[in-house]
Amino acid sequence: VLKGVIFDLDGVIADTAVVHHAAWKRLASEIGVAFDDSVGERIKGVDRRGSLDILLERTARAYSEEEKEALASRKNDYYRQQIETFGPQHLFPGARHTIESVRRAGLKTALASASRNAPLLLERLGIADLFDYVVDANHIGRAKPDPEIFLAAARGLGLEPSECLGVEDAAAGIAGIHAAGMKAVGVGQAQALAEADLLVPNVAAFDIRLFTA
Ligand code: BG6
Ligand code: MG
Repeated sequence: VLKGVIFDLDGVIADTAVVHHAAWKRLASEIGVAFDDSVGERIKGVDRRGSLDILLERTARAYSEEEKEALASRKNDYYRQQIETFGPQHLFPGARHTIESVRRAGLKTALASASRNAPLLLERLGIADLFDYVVDANHIGRAKPDPEIFLAAARGLGLEPSECLGVEDAAAGIAGIHAAGMKAVGVGQAQALAEADLLVPNVAAFDIRLFTA
């Protein structure tokens, strides 16, 4: 029986996947690394350092650890500049309604975000109170597609993984949800989310009654 829903943040609840994408693209162009849509899709949902490593696959230059730290933090500065201006208007249409519907249906809600900026973003969006439990990259060691973050979210809700459903916009996230033993809802383009158990075009189209009826 389904008792909890675990939401991803970037690209599911808020329109921030494009902000991450733009920040990486700016960094790539500054260091002369090619950045196309296939790289963009691969880094979606991947943590900061993992994203940088994917970006640097395209260069022959060897970067030291210090240089990599500096590049990752430069990208984060670009990202933060945008996020600082965010407010509730940057929620995807229907996001608040969807999460509230899950809660009204008697289910618990958690947030599982690979972003260390998740707490700031939740505060800016004004939705921190919609989640019974929040786990972000500050609390976990292994990034998506590892199941760790989803298992931690289920544990935080006091539920078994099999009692939870995960909602993700990235292939890495869908893989992590499945590895955790949960069903996965994909949000967005079918192409990148072929493994999802159910696909919806956006968070507003996610209807909990599809799962509880
Ligand atoms: C994920 C995003 O939620 O967080 C990724 O989908 C991002 O694009 C990752 O790289 C890490 O974010 P941050 O804010 O910790 O650099
Ligand atoms: Mg995402």
